[in-house]
Amino acid sequence: MKAIILCAGKGTRLRPLTFTSAKQLIPVANKPVILYSIEKIKEIGISDIGMIVNTENVSAFQDALGDGSQFGVKLSYIIQTNPKGLADAVSVAKDFLDGETFLMYLGDNLIQEDLVDFARDFEQKKLNASILLTPVDDPSRFGVAVVNGDAVLKVVEKPQNPPSNLAITGVYLFDSSIFEGIANIKPSWRGELEITDAIQYLIEKSYKVRGHVIYGWWKDTGRPEDLLEANRRILENVRHSRKNGSINGGSKIEGHVIIEEGVEIINSIVRGPASIDKNSTVMNSYIGPYTSIGQNVTIENAEIENSILLENSVVRDVDVRIDSSIIGKSATVSSIEKKPKVHNLVIGDYSSIKLG
Ligand code: DAU
Repeated sequence: MKAIILCAGKGTRLRPLTFTSAKQLIPVANKPVILYSIEKIKEIGISDIGMIVNTENVSAFQDALGDGSQFGVKLSYIIQTNPKGLADAVSVAKDFLDGETFLMYLGDNLIQEDLVDFARDFEQKKLNASILLTPVDDPSRFGVAVVNGDAVLKVVEKPQNPPSNLAITGVYLFDSSIFEGIANIKPSWRGELEITDAIQYLIEKSYKVRGHVIYGWWKDTGRPEDLLEANRRILENVRHSRKNGSINGGSKIEGHVIIEEGVEIINSIVRGPASIDKNSTVMNSYIGPYTSIGQNVTIENAEIENSILLENSVVRDVDVRIDSSIIGKSATVSSIEKKPKVHNLVIGDYSSIKLG
């Protein structure tokens, strides 16, 4: 069995972060979202993975992941020149898949549950398609399935009046019959070739389509608030670990905090769960729970909690606590010493700043 991970979308809801990176490469608890997916796929014994990327983000993925060998997998990059839907992404991967059964994983999804039973069931029952489902409060944001036991009776993409509360999570298993489904669909109301419609075709043609319901935590990390929630969930499970950092006597580390090599903590309080990546400095500051600090970050005379700071960012002399924020690579947040006390901003396109 092979796998494909879909990463060719535009990530518009995460601008400006996605102007310089892909959303699947944004770190959560100091690890890119995509690496959590690769780990899940590896767990079920798949190592041959096709990365569906677009012309703009292909080099960012290649730089970050290479050929996959450092993560114990073999990655092939497949370019979807004009991302016009999940079904289109599968078509683009047809040669790579070469008639094999495959797992399809939406690259912006984070799933807690392991996928071993899901994959075993698909193979043992020789299904044509199996979809991972979970109950949600707001099904109209997702693809929705109607089931009877494990048989899927109907699937519909982002319905206004959802026929059930079972969302399609973004992990699918298919055999090559899905290509017959894809050949028989038309663009949806949002102009995309929907994999949901191709699955509906299989159902109508009496192919064996099953659903596998999970109850553990699952997140589609398409929006900033989703990334922050994912960050909290993952940090909740971290255990205290400390590499060769330096923590001076005036500092206090409370709860579970990951401190990587070269980190300096000077006269500061760090209250976990939190993660501080290599060579970052925290001076005269307070780092509160659920904060992930990337590599080479500087925090001085500031208070931050429930936030994600990407590599090389700087937060200095800020007298209001920063909360629920994502600070991009090499971004600087600081305050003006001189009078008049004004806000002086250089903000990238599509940024969002809320002044307290
Ligand atoms: O998150 C779960 C939902 O994902 C499902 O419930 C829906 O049934 C499914 O259609 C999908 O909906 P989204 O609207 O959230 O999909 P999105 O456009 O965010 O794309 C999901 C991933 O697939 C993302 O990593 C980008 C990638 N992608 C997307 C498109 C449209 C591609 O690789 N190629 C594409 O053409």
